[in-house]
Amino acid sequence: MAKLIINGGRPLAGCVNLQGSKNSALPILAACASVNGISVIHNCPDLTDVKAATDILSHIGCKVRREGKAVIVDSTDASNSVIPESLMHEMRSSIIFLGALLARFGECTVTAPGGCEIGLRPIDLHLSALRSMGAQITEEGGYLVCRANKLSGCCINLDFPSVGATENIMLAALAASGETVIHNAAREPEIEDLAHFIEKCGAKVSGAGQSVIRISVPSKLSAAEHTVIPDRIVASTYIAAVASASGKITVKGAEYQHLAPVIPAFEAMGCAVAYKNGELNAQLTGRPKRIKLIRTMPYPGFPTDSQAIIMAVAAKSRGTSVITEKIFENRFRHVPELIKMGADIRVEDGCVAVVEGVASLHGAKVESTDLRGGCALAIAAMGAEGQTVIEKIYHIDRGCEAFENRFAELGADIKRTE
Ligand code: EPZ
Repeated sequence: MAKLIINGGRPLAGCVNLQGSKNSALPILAACASVNGISVIHNCPDLTDVKAATDILSHIGCKVRREGKAVIVDSTDASNSVIPESLMHEMRSSIIFLGALLARFGECTVTAPGGCEIGLRPIDLHLSALRSMGAQITEEGGYLVCRANKLSGCCINLDFPSVGATENIMLAALAASGETVIHNAAREPEIEDLAHFIEKCGAKVSGAGQSVIRISVPSKLSAAEHTVIPDRIVASTYIAAVASASGKITVKGAEYQHLAPVIPAFEAMGCAVAYKNGELNAQLTGRPKRIKLIRTMPYPGFPTDSQAIIMAVAAKSRGTSVITEKIFENRFRHVPELIKMGADIRVEDGCVAVVEGVASLHGAKVESTDLRGGCALAIAAMGAEGQTVIEKIYHIDRGCEAFENRFAELGADIKRTE
């Protein structure tokens, strides 16, 4: 099984191009199934999660091919509304196909995605919203069998601004009569990007990026061409890496506005961050300072996906940092692995991590527990003394394109071994 070998202690330097957003590409690829014709999705990152999504598109009858950074989806002959367990379990967020296939076929059968490394990941908000739009959804032997002879737009109040539930409602709304209104919608940039794509397909969307989103479909939808936004979480991963290993780097293609929730935290830790003409410069000399308190919240709060990586920086910072994980109930699985590298971290009530910064971390043999936890271990390793071996890096490959190549371009001593 592939591993990463990292020899730490080298300051980073250089320039890297930022990949397209995984969490934007996935719902947009699902949306390609909802409209008829040939869609071209540019800046689509080459990731195992994206491959899982294109495998599902092929399985339902779309013709899919990759041309460099673009994925072309011809959904003309899509006809299969059943996604088997083998494909659904490739990726937790396959649940996003529920709304897309309901919109396309008026029915679909998918397996309940089940929990994952970071939590139970329930889908109650998805199911109650789709049922209120007229879908009959029964759970039969681990499968969700969904039928919707007619989807009707309605007013949906989400108990929690769930990203996936917001996206599923937006996709089901593509086949709904009348207007669908989502209250307490997720406000992440990936929601806005999905809205931009379905608008290009012919939908009328207002309020995306805010808490109330209105969707209606005045005329027949068609396929469209779209460029996926840059990946704000991977951008924050690069900033965390230079905060951990020190040095100065440039990230090309970042969207500064999307990083507004994280930049102040890294600046508080001593990172100098500047932005000009799409280029983000991040620099830190010496040892980072602690971050007094991080509380993960829905956008525009501090993103839960950046929690593990900022903890890796806090682990070697000067002082005590407190990090509270408010979104997922099991998102501290990287803590025991960081402790193997010499970190001094105590977890209270499963959701509060008290991080006593140590002067330096040391290399160790550690295990990636999930995508962002794996990135955190690599970030800690780049700023540690000695060699770190990270196993189960398939988690990292789910969301980071050519991880070791990108960081080698920034001067890290990092290799992948099979
Ligand atoms: C999306 O997951 C992202 N994944 C996650 O990124 C991200 O961490 C998360 O949003 C929060 O920003 C993709 O976009 C593919 P949620 P999602 O529904 O949609 C609870 C990464 O590393 N909830 O906003 O699954 C849920 O348990 C991944 O790139 C319900 O209770 O997140 C969690 O506590 C990890 N019932 C909270 O809401 C539901 O029906 C946030 O979940 C749905 C969610």
